[in-house]
Amino acid sequence: MIPLENILQSIKHLPPVPTVIQKALSLLMNQEVSASKIVEVIQYDQALTANVLKICNSAYFGLSRKIYSLQEALVRIGNRNMRIVIMASSLMQFYKKAGDGYDLRKGDLWRHSVACGMMSMILGKTISQRTGHAVEDHYLFTTALLHDLGKVVLNEYVKESFEEIVTMVESRKCSFVEAEREIIGMDHAALGARISRMWKFPDRMAEAIAYHHEPESSPEPCSLLYIVHLSDLLCMMMGIGGGVDGLAYRGMDSVLQTYGLAEKDVERCMASLLEEMARVDGFLYDENDVHRNHP
Ligand SMILES: [Fe+2]
Ligand SMILES: [Fe+2]
Repeated sequence: MIPLENILQSIKHLPPVPTVIQKALSLLMNQEVSASKIVEVIQYDQALTANVLKICNSAYFGLSRKIYSLQEALVRIGNRNMRIVIMASSLMQFYKKAGDGYDLRKGDLWRHSVACGMMSMILGKTISQRTGHAVEDHYLFTTALLHDLGKVVLNEYVKESFEEIVTMVESRKCSFVEAEREIIGMDHAALGARISRMWKFPDRMAEAIAYHHEPESSPEPCSLLYIVHLSDLLCMMMGIGGGVDGLAYRGMDSVLQTYGLAEKDVERCMASLLEEMARVDGFLYDENDVHRNHP
């Protein structure tokens, strides 16, 4: 087993978060702060600004003409979308580095994360319609986007122990996180929660990340956790960036029942996600990505 200390040490060696991004993330966490205030902060970071504009100009937003400034972007796509785009742009750099250990191709973990972010919004809308209670959780997209953050760090260790984990998953029919715990000593969900706390994200987010594979073990299960869990399962069922661990997760019937979702609702959500994914080139790829043509 790899000493926990070594893994925790790795958190310190995460690619450094530029000050501007750190500041933007903490402002984004505060719902009282307007997107225009956040724009004021990020406009001094060229790479981040360029990325935000690229996403705003992608087919996803379908703008009739190209925009060239953050202020213009804010007017055109609105406060809520702008926050989401800035969050996605800020976190992209972390995810692009990870992947190998989980049998994911370069960029797949990011693709899976963005898909989960989008699926969480689609599910939130569907659940609101089914239950009659609006699911308005400001942290939903971000938590779904971040749920596998721990993989970025564990990746390094999983690579070494990969064969062993896969053998255990297959022979014992256990989940990937259970095998991670036994072989590495920590799973990516627990580690992701630690990192998000280190980044001063709200406790609710860290809890949802910590239990995203085992919502039944959470001391305080809530919609945020259940929707992130369900988004993850659905994306893996659709084969979006699940890697090997996509084969080892358990059912989701009880979560679907909790929200009164039927099979056809799930099918509709999946179809909506596919449609949205086809429009989000700007979220998913940069020039160095290997497989632009992936569905
Ligand atoms: Fe996960
Ligand atoms: Fe996941």
